[in-house]
Amino acid sequence: MNANMTLAALLEEEHQQIDSGIEAFVSAENGDDRTGELTTAIQALRRHIYLEEAMVFPSLRAAGMVAPVFVMLREHGEIWRTLDELETGVASGVDRRELLTFCAQLTGQLDSHNMKEEQILYPQTDGVLTGEATAELRAFLASGELPDGWACAQARA
Ligand SMILES: [Fe+2]
Ligand SMILES: [Fe+2]
Repeated sequence: MNANMTLAALLEEEHQQIDSGIEAFVSAENGDDRTGELTTAIQALRRHIYLEEAMVFPSLRAAGMVAPVFVMLREHGEIWRTLDELETGVASGVDRRELLTFCAQLTGQLDSHNMKEEQILYPQTDGVLTGEATAELRAFLASGELPDGWACAQARA
């Protein structure tokens, strides 16, 4: 991870890495099994949602971005459910066509969600997080792991 990159740029980079993992699976040639990349992208996306909800959104909300954060949390809930379906599909070995349907749903959700984060929320992040919160987020981006059993706010029953 580049210490010279802004938090906004680092968060955007995660979006791109996750998108490429999904794309690798979707665009795989016949017989080329890229399920591992899809699984990695699913795990990376859950971790990304965690770090946003635990380490980014609270500061943005405190700085007055209540409505945008509310919308992002709702969308995380929708994305989380798609991830559950996709993961269950991979684990139970459903056919590729079905997994591609879930991938298309996920890509549609992410296109709209990530664009809003990148245009509205991320540009505020570097200015709003305290030094301590910034250090915590940078450390987590470099090597943090999703806590066992964690689910996003809108997925907790
Ligand atoms: Fe998000
Ligand atoms: Fe994000």
